[in-house]
Amino acid sequence: MQKVTTVNQLRNLIRQWRKKGLSIAFVPTMGNLHSGHIKLVREAKKQADRVVVSIFVNPTQFGAGEDFENYPRTERVDEDKLTEASVDLLFLPTIFEIYPNKASTRVSVGDLAALHCGAYRMGHFDGVATVVTKLFNMVQPDIAFFGEKDFQQLAVIRNMVQDLNIPVEILGVSTEREKDGLAMSSRNGYLTAKERAIAPKLYQALCMARDEVLQTKAFKTIEKENSTLLESEGFKVDYFSICNADNLQLATENDKSLVILVAAKLGRPRLIDNITFSKK
Ligand code: PAF
Repeated sequence: MQKVTTVNQLRNLIRQWRKKGLSIAFVPTMGNLHSGHIKLVREAKKQADRVVVSIFVNPTQFGAGEDFENYPRTERVDEDKLTEASVDLLFLPTIFEIYPNKASTRVSVGDLAALHCGAYRMGHFDGVATVVTKLFNMVQPDIAFFGEKDFQQLAVIRNMVQDLNIPVEILGVSTEREKDGLAMSSRNGYLTAKERAIAPKLYQALCMARDEVLQTKAFKTIEKENSTLLESEGFKVDYFSICNADNLQLATENDKSLVILVAAKLGRPRLIDNITFSKK
């Protein structure tokens, strides 16, 4: 695996690949890699001749009081995992490389950024959209891979490439879970042993809610009962919402393609998860 830290080095290598007619897949990450990230890499390797991974903890997507300073930075271990996964190129830029001019130009996401997580993390999705646009301009991949665990982020990025005519195909990859159902996340490491034992209840509630939707129970009742259940287990629920999977608006009884989105704090970390399914 080659490793570069500047945009110039990155572009030189990519230019050489392009000259040979090779296709390029891109997996942007913030590091602290787990099996979910490696699954993205594996999918990327199936779809392109070369795979580029970036590790960059992006300050513009963290709000005041969030964990930017303490976000786990585990570059050495991450590099080993990426080498083992046969990644071709690791891009490890500094903050100055990505934001040399304090980035006064931003990508503004619009309505989708105000929903769900956006309502609790002001400016978060604009920060994600800005850095992903910049990384796309630097790497210029044919195809890029994102985890479905961050369902709203994936929707934001899909909208963004469409709205801004960015010529990159976006692929979502299904969530990697621990044996007990907990969605893998870099922030799971913040859980205490006691909280870790409770955490799988988030996905259990999603599965139960999906079954209740399919048994045609009223959406509002399902949302309320499952939020109350999670609160009784020790979660602080931001939202538990049954939505239209295409536009992420609250679902109506006529919607067929559905996603249930949940975000809840458990001790220090705020966990998010979702479940998608179709209704007849
Ligand atoms: O999902 C993430 O890890 C980040 O939001 C991303 C897409 C790498 C942008 O910083």
